[in-house]
Amino acid sequence: MKSKSLVSIDQCTKEDILRILDNARKFEDNPNRNLLEGKVAATLFFEPSTRTRLSFETAINRLGGKVIGFQDASTTSSSKGETLKDTILMVSNYADLIVMRHHLEGAAKYASEITDIPIINAGDGANQHPSQTMLDLYSIQKTQGKLTDLTITMVGDLKYGRTVHSLISGMSHFNPTFHFVAPDELRMPDEYKLFCDKHNIKYYEHTAFSEEVINETDILYMTRVQRERFTDLEEYQRVKNVYILKSQMLENSKDNLRVLHPLPRVNEIAYDVDDSPKAYYIQQARNGLFARQAIICEVLGITI
Ligand code: CP
Repeated sequence: MKSKSLVSIDQCTKEDILRILDNARKFEDNPNRNLLEGKVAATLFFEPSTRTRLSFETAINRLGGKVIGFQDASTTSSSKGETLKDTILMVSNYADLIVMRHHLEGAAKYASEITDIPIINAGDGANQHPSQTMLDLYSIQKTQGKLTDLTITMVGDLKYGRTVHSLISGMSHFNPTFHFVAPDELRMPDEYKLFCDKHNIKYYEHTAFSEEVINETDILYMTRVQRERFTDLEEYQRVKNVYILKSQMLENSKDNLRVLHPLPRVNEIAYDVDDSPKAYYIQQARNGLFARQAIICEVLGITI
């Protein structure tokens, strides 16, 4: 990787991605390795999280490191007015690595510019979620047996969904075809469509979530409509349940189709889908542990 911090999936070459996925596979074979003995990692979560924080902390624990940090910034001195800069500089006095989630786009990049220890972006506003992308790529490779030439349908909140923004970039090395299914209010932002144009990536936009599209799909990537990013809550109410995947909608889908979702889900996947062999979102979250172990070793320069 160009930098020892991971703030954006854009900084990873195809070779970086394939190496990290290969290492994730080694961690899936054996997640308990004493590679972080004597190291302290800080997890700074200025926004709520279940999977990302707990899988990072599990990764650090299973690698023999120690964890400090917070999951609620209101209990820290940032509630007294301490700046992000000072918080990062203070934590850099104590830890060898910072994993951070923040509501401001660019916060992780900013942090990486003011400290000498590696920063891993665990989500910055609607911008990027690179460790999620790595576990998504791992899940795609594992379920499809390849990353190349796949049709990926992204459904839901494509405007604010940082996971879909990162995934477009991560998949750009592997000749994907995208279907973007979103209501007008939540369409994929122009910058990501321009990115596809620049990289000769085929994409199609839809407002209807049709079985015609599902039946062409290899990876059906569902997303939650993100209430916390709306400034107009009436608009959220209008679009919040716009697409709901039900089991019967998968009846004529390809055998290899898998349903992914970064989670948490609210209403966008009906519970009857959980019983389908095509539902993969719970295993996807499990893969987060192995992908994050590989990322931590990558940024710390630890050979596996
Ligand atoms: N996928 C994801 O980022 O989940 P959390 O918000 O629970 O960390």
